[in-house]
Amino acid sequence: MQVKKEFKEQLKEYQERANNELEKELRKYECPEEVLNESVEYSLMAGGKRLRPVLVMATYELFKQDVEKCIPYAIAIEMIHNFSLIHDDLPGIDNDDFRHGKLTNHKKFNEATAILAGDSLLNNAYGVISNDLINTPITELQNKLKVFNEFSTAVDRMIIGEYVDTEYEGKQISEEDLKYIHENKTGALLKLCVRMGAILANASTDELESVTKYSEKIGLAFQIKDDILSEEGNEKELGKPVGNDKILKKCTYVSKYGVDGAKKILEETIKEAIEYLNKFGERAEFLKELAIYIKDRNK
Ligand code: IPE
Ligand code: IPE
Ligand code: MG
Ligand code: MG
Repeated sequence: MQVKKEFKEQLKEYQERANNELEKELRKYECPEEVLNESVEYSLMAGGKRLRPVLVMATYELFKQDVEKCIPYAIAIEMIHNFSLIHDDLPGIDNDDFRHGKLTNHKKFNEATAILAGDSLLNNAYGVISNDLINTPITELQNKLKVFNEFSTAVDRMIIGEYVDTEYEGKQISEEDLKYIHENKTGALLKLCVRMGAILANASTDELESVTKYSEKIGLAFQIKDDILSEEGNEKELGKPVGNDKILKKCTYVSKYGVDGAKKILEETIKEAIEYLNKFGERAEFLKELAIYIKDRNK
């Protein structure tokens, strides 16, 4: 019998796996432009938490052992995430100078390079998936094409969420529209990660439904926590500016409900997320602890 690992140890293992696989992918890049390559690598290997690949792998392992099968999808989504961060920091969107304790991509390089590095990550994420599809036996293809289709829909939701987020700066927002922003700009990719892990591991319809519910809750919770950290986080630990949501008059859970109100909603949302996993018993322990990690994180 396999010995159960502590949460922190397991998390580190997943994160290291994600880092190694991303490194491998970077070495396959064939772009002849050194600076563009550097710019992509600068952001992709800047020290992100790798939550998205962790979610793909952990959900996959809830159902199946051969985790290597989901790796292309785990790294493709992390590439998309990093594309979204580079563009999110641009002057035309959030105009931020620091991320991961380092200059943002456009500050380190320049705007044109940052835009194109983001584009390159977006495009190459699809390249990674198409490479896996090409090497998939035709009998297993249908399932992966379903994942591919969900992948592109979720990326689209993230882009829509980012658009609405910027459109609402400085305006009054309803509870419903605020939730819509968070569920799209951040929730969509996190939900996708869980669903990809489950679908690739051939989870049943019932199982898929339960983990999807979990993913919707942690997706929303993740952004509520991001809003709280933007209000009262420790800038050094966070590696990105604190107070920027206020400066840009962003509509957030903190601007709408206050810090205490946002914390209460966060607590409730995480509790609900965990409940959706109860039916899986002990084997869902890691995903449950991951939900708590999302709530308690300082970066
Ligand atoms: C930050 O995401 C942007 C949001 C979607 C809230 P993460 O906090 O997951 O970013 P890194 O990759 O770990 O820095
Ligand atoms: C980022 O949202 C969401 C995406 C990049 C898609 P935020 O703008 O709130 O996140 P941070 O605080 O810059 O990481
Ligand atoms: Mg933003
Ligand atoms: Mg931002």
